[in-house]
Amino acid sequence: MIELRELAPADVDALLGIYGAEATKYLGRAAMDVAEARYYIRDAAASAELSPRTLYVLGLTVDGDLLGVVKLHCDRPVAAVSYILRPDSWGRGYATEGVRKILALAFGHLGLPEIRARHHPGNPASGRVLLKAGFVPTGEQTGFMTYAIRSPQDGAATDRTTAHGGAGGTVRSQWRAWGAVWRWMTWAWGGRMRRMPSLREEGRRQGRLAGSGDAGDHDPAHATRRSRPGESGRGTRPTPIWPCDCWRLWRT
Ligand SMILES: CC(C)(COP(=O)(O)OP(=O)(O)OC[C@H]1O[C@@H](n2cnc3c(N)ncnc32)[C@H](O)[C@@H]1OP(=O)(O)O)[C@@H](O)C(=O)NCCC(=O)NCCS
Repeated sequence: MIELRELAPADVDALLGIYGAEATKYLGRAAMDVAEARYYIRDAAASAELSPRTLYVLGLTVDGDLLGVVKLHCDRPVAAVSYILRPDSWGRGYATEGVRKILALAFGHLGLPEIRARHHPGNPASGRVLLKAGFVPTGEQTGFMTYAIRSPQDGAATDRTTAHGGAGGTVRSQWRAWGAVWRWMTWAWGGRMRRMPSLREEGRRQGRLAGSGDAGDHDPAHATRRSRPGESGRGTRPTPIWPCDCWRLWRT
């Protein structure tokens, strides 16, 4: 079972074993010496103090033994991971486990949307680590194979939006917006009706509104129109006052 932890001043010798000639072959750098190892640890400690923290340099341990380093660089537009293990520990899945752990930190605690990584084309083991951890190849840049992985939360949000087909989420939100507009219009309409005593008076005068005391007296939106005897063949069947009188309201 691997663990990731902050580096400590006592890790100098372990770092020299990790950053030896064999492991640094494809990293475009020389093996580490004692002075660099000390500086490396101090630098890692300083970056851990920064807020917000933009660099995670974490030691990878197995049963307390420091076998490697996994890094998360958040100091760029899209964050990136890198890793290195002591050669005698290769081939046991430790690097893959370490990358998965740092992805959990990046997507979980830090909430990053995307992580990138790259490796030298002569180092296929590193590409295998990335594929096993869920990265997808994105091509080649400046002689390195490039990879990326997106946050699972980000994917879930996209799935929710498109779960019912294409831009279904957008269509649903548009319908919700139109529903809100319609509710506002009917509310505003009711208020305007309530503020129209002259119209109500006129309605009463003409005997077009229901008699006083019913709901229509207080809320003309619910008032009913009664036909005059002989006006139509339908006797006293109530008819809604709107929309036939709409124009009166908007003229006032
Ligand atoms: C790359 C490196 C981190 C891998 O560490 P590791 O602990 O051996 O990685 P894992 O055991 O998790 O996985 C290695 C995978 O690569 C595969 N592999 C090893 N050598 C390989 C090769 N020559 N070609 C193709 N695949 C290879 C292994 O079979 C394994 O895949 P599998 O589990 O499907 O069998 C390690 O070799 C290393 O530190 N290299 C030097 C530093 C480096 O290159 N860092 C990456 C740059 S960011």
